[in-house]
Amino acid sequence: MERLQEALKRAREQREELGAGAPPATGDAAQADAPAQAQRQSSAHHGQDPWEAVPEFAPIPRIMRKNRLISYFGGPEASPYDIMRTKIVQLAKAKEAKRIIVTSPSPGCGKTTTTANLAFSLARQADLRTLVLDIDFRRPNLGKVLGIQEPHQFSEALANESDPAEHMVRIGSNLLIATNAEPAANPSELLQSQVAQETLAELERRFEPDLVLFDALPVLTSDDTIGFVEHCDAALIVAAAEQNSMEELDVTEAEIAAVSTVLGVVLNKCRYAGNNYEYY
Ligand SMILES: Nc1ncnc2c1ncn2[C@@H]1O[C@H](COP(=O)(O)OP(=O)(O)O)[C@@H](O)[C@H]1O
Ligand SMILES: [Mg+2]
Repeated sequence: MERLQEALKRAREQREELGAGAPPATGDAAQADAPAQAQRQSSAHHGQDPWEAVPEFAPIPRIMRKNRLISYFGGPEASPYDIMRTKIVQLAKAKEAKRIIVTSPSPGCGKTTTTANLAFSLARQADLRTLVLDIDFRRPNLGKVLGIQEPHQFSEALANESDPAEHMVRIGSNLLIATNAEPAANPSELLQSQVAQETLAELERRFEPDLVLFDALPVLTSDDTIGFVEHCDAALIVAAAEQNSMEELDVTEAEIAAVSTVLGVVLNKCRYAGNNYEYY
């Protein structure tokens, strides 16, 4: 247990350090850049908003609950993700960070679950537009847990072989999610390619998201992630209680910190009792 508490403490210290000088919280509705909003509204008015061209997707509540995507429902159950969201938005603003990669030391720690929950939480902020990209090209699960049936393959779009919009769904008016039905052939080469960077830059120009969240691969099992992290502004590390050791977390943090900023560590799959409830 001690190593987990230590991990939490270090993550908190790191967050506080990163948050120094951050502007005070201004509430959910005040996060957006007003001129950008006005421009978006005006574009939408003239039928030019590229967001509207992406097919809308309505998640099925039963699937959301089964896959632990509780943030979809909002309310008290979603509050840990809402707190995480608020912190991330504050830190992203303070650090002028837009691209945030969600990674972990090893597979199965909860990256996809955390990314999707965070995405739903971000989407409840009406003025914030979030683009979520599944780049775990070895174990792409985001589309599956969301219940997306279409054979989307964002890896093809990243390689500039097709239009990214063909591999995306829109949830509501401010959340776009690009997924993969199958693993990609050469994940490492693709993620580190020039064409991938150009595609991402073009995606950002086209959709003008406030935040881009990447559901990525783990750090310790291949070099896919570290090669890509340097193109991200910040990273969120999802560690699994009783699965990851402090050493694994240390190495992961150090590798990321060498090329980008560690926003914080999410301690997932942690069981503790509080107020007679058992949280995970
Ligand atoms: N907090 C949690 N408590 C219990 N199970 C979880 C939690 N987060 C994720 N899981 C489960 O663990 C498994 C792996 O999660 P996933 O998000 O796919 O991990 P990753 O993307 O890091 O491989 C899934 O079955 C998921 O439902
Ligand atoms: Mg995953």
